[in-house]
Amino acid sequence: MTTPHIAVIVGSNRRESINRKLAQALIKLGSDKFDARIVRIDDLPMYNQDNENNLSPEIIRFKDEISRADGVLIVTPEHDRSIPAVLKNAVDWGARPWGKNSWAGKPGFITGTSPGAIGSALAQQHLRSVMTGLGMILLGGEAYVTFKPNLVDDNGNIGDDSTRKFLADFIDRFAFLVGRLRSEPARSAA
Ligand SMILES: Cc1cc2nc3c(=O)[nH]c(=O)nc-3n(C[C@H](O)[C@H](O)[C@H](O)COP(=O)(O)O)c2cc1C
Repeated sequence: MTTPHIAVIVGSNRRESINRKLAQALIKLGSDKFDARIVRIDDLPMYNQDNENNLSPEIIRFKDEISRADGVLIVTPEHDRSIPAVLKNAVDWGARPWGKNSWAGKPGFITGTSPGAIGSALAQQHLRSVMTGLGMILLGGEAYVTFKPNLVDDNGNIGDDSTRKFLADFIDRFAFLVGRLRSEPARSAA
């Protein structure tokens, strides 16, 4: 079987996003298990049901990238104790139009970082609830990461040993979940 392909979504459109740096480090950490690429979401228009019959090229590209992926890794900050608007917008486009839900049956791993003590926990919890409702099959466990300046070092690796081991365990289990569901494709929940 070919190497699994993972679509990576970063829930931030900030140039110096700490979550994008974490996502890139996770892609590196899993490079012997899967090919992963960050999928752009900052160019998607604001969701509007009026445009569902006339999807822009950016939305078509985004939905296609999700549909073709064997799994989805979402690395998100927390905005006002919830899902950042740029990410929720992408989630909504992925879910629509009715009958074209790109998320259904996809294995997913949600993580994220914030300088706050609970490391984006509430955003992740809200996102879990939304994505489970859309039919994603999410990896269990809680991968909340408090941001510290050495979280990602100058070489793009997770700087701290215990955090690297903690996240490597999630990456291993995610790769396993993706592999299992690839050999036995899940039925759509759309
Ligand atoms: C609008 C806004 C709301 C925020 N709300 C939270 C929050 O609820 N919890 C938290 O831990 N950090 C919060 N922060 C701080 C973010 O964790 C911090 O800006 C972080 O760098 C965002 O991740 P990013 O660098 O990947 O964009 C907020 C930041 C912004 C701009």
